[in-house]
Amino acid sequence: MKAAPSIAPLEAPYTLRACAVPYETLAERHPAYGKFGQDVGRTRLIEVPGPHGGATVMAKCEWENPEGSVKDRVAYALLGSALEEHGDRPLSELKVLEYSGGNLSRALSALCAELGIRSRYVLSSASPRSLLDTLEARGAEVDLVDKEKGFLEVVRRALRTAEEDPGWHLLYQHRNPANLFFHERTTGAEIVAQTRERKVAAWVASIGTGGTLIGVLRALRRRDPAVRAVGVTPSELPYASEQPPNGLPKYAGSGGMGYGIRQPFVTLHDDEIEHHTVSHSRCLELMAEFFAATGIRIGTSAAANWSTAREVAASLPPSDTVVTVLPDAGTPEEWARIGR
Ligand SMILES: Cc1ncc(COP(=O)(O)O)c(C=O)c1O
Repeated sequence: MKAAPSIAPLEAPYTLRACAVPYETLAERHPAYGKFGQDVGRTRLIEVPGPHGGATVMAKCEWENPEGSVKDRVAYALLGSALEEHGDRPLSELKVLEYSGGNLSRALSALCAELGIRSRYVLSSASPRSLLDTLEARGAEVDLVDKEKGFLEVVRRALRTAEEDPGWHLLYQHRNPANLFFHERTTGAEIVAQTRERKVAAWVASIGTGGTLIGVLRALRRRDPAVRAVGVTPSELPYASEQPPNGLPKYAGSGGMGYGIRQPFVTLHDDEIEHHTVSHSRCLELMAEFFAATGIRIGTSAAANWSTAREVAASLPPSDTVVTVLPDAGTPEEWARIGR
């Protein structure tokens, strides 16, 4: 019997290791993977409502990705690292395991179904019915963890499954450098190109893994080391909170882990990040407000990012720009609650 590999726990000290996934070669070897990759990214950066008299606020429209969220980028990146490790063996022998707040499982299940790869997701029992129906239709396996235990237990359940059955390849989005580097090389590089004429004073992003926040920050800081970085997490469980995890509703895809645990990517820049929080109920109000102002549907984390970016922009001069990201367009369940 194969010995179980030792998987670093979420809270273990983190060092970013170099990672050069050969995406082009993989895309040639697996055309369905290549096709997905062609459709990922190159999303619009649009001006969104900002404060009167402050800096301009601009935001990346990540619902334009094929499966509707920023996590399509990460699905492509993480699956690439698994495909590289898998080598020339048949894809029918690859079994992918990951935990998710929702969007990553949606993106990965589409990719894996196209490629004929078995996939399994650990999710919270609070996951919306629309997502569970999609995963089932794509033949994915799902393990649900009691929502009262918080996202930390979702992660830990996946780690335990991978330890117990090494036949499952855990992608491990919180510690897999492909997540951060893909954001640096795509989301970040796109923003740098899209803001060539502007002075980007601050970058605002919600923290799930922190891959978006830190990956893009690295790209922006290469052009201007003075760019401020603002991380956003739910007020119900902020980043680095010492509280135990809880089952309170929180805005999507983001959050502290509880017990003082910090997301590994964020620890790489811990002294340089300003932290803001937004509550779930406020995000629902902000979704309605953004829709009324623009006619565009954004999700809860997008709403949290937008309102934080607006606050940051209020104290900056009109010559500056604050950039943020709109990770998705929200779920049918959220829009039903809002009544739009
Ligand atoms: C809707 C949404 N917003 C924000 C995030 C946070 O992204 P990251 O993991 O890059 O911090 C996620 C990640 O799952 C998400 O699904």
